[in-house]
Amino acid sequence: VSQAPRAGTAVAESPPADAEAVFGERLPLASRYAHLLTTAAVQRGLLGPREPARIWTRHLLNSAAVAAELPCGAVSVLDIGSGAGLPGIPVWLARPDVELTLVESMRRRVEFLRETVADLGLPTRVVHGRAESLPAASFDVVVARAVAPLTRLLPLALPLLRPGGRLLALKGDTAAAEIADVSGSGHRRRQVRMRLREVSVAGVAATLVRVDLPGARGAR
Ligand SMILES: C[S@@+](CC[C@H](N)C(=O)[O-])C[C@H]1O[C@@H](n2cnc3c(N)ncnc32)[C@H](O)[C@@H]1O
Repeated sequence: VSQAPRAGTAVAESPPADAEAVFGERLPLASRYAHLLTTAAVQRGLLGPREPARIWTRHLLNSAAVAAELPCGAVSVLDIGSGAGLPGIPVWLARPDVELTLVESMRRRVEFLRETVADLGLPTRVVHGRAESLPAASFDVVVARAVAPLTRLLPLALPLLRPGGRLLALKGDTAAAEIADVSGSGHRRRQVRMRLREVSVAGVAATLVRVDLPGARGAR
């Protein structure tokens, strides 16, 4: 992965003091990932030139907030539309006991993901393709950020979950409106439980929509 910063790129944000509480002994790996995002990912147009200035708060820590809503124990996690690895890679860095798969449909993003996973030495599977082509009922948790509104994300993500599985969608201000848009739909009738969760990680607030399927894990 090429590392030279591009002219006009914002100076990269330093890791906040609390980042160690989130990533523990993997903080050096998180720092390396931040470096790859602020150099190679910006050079290749996968991240905007202003993003390095908020790489920890808006990207690594915002993504790691998803880990706070993961079920306990070893679970398989799929990141749909991972882009440059967000939120999946920070989720793994915060919770390395999970088995992480990244699925991404754009070839040049997949190339970056493969190089990054190899560079960091992560035990992560990278799939080039559309999430729809993955086998149904294969994951305990699906995570996603900035892929689609819930009206489109639910039909994409829920079939990939095992019974009792959980979708964690990182959302911003639109979360409540998106929940309202899907309430009363077939998902509600099928006893899908949908909640808005406000999570704070290392002083960074994140808004998640958590969707639990009925089943063995649905009671958590
Ligand atoms: C706006 S980007 C967000 C990337 C990343 N999640 C983030 O938050 O920075 C959306 C990504 O989802 C990918 N994508 C959209 N629909 C997809 C699908 N059905 N299967 C796999 N990837 C998809 C696109 O190629 C794109 O890289």
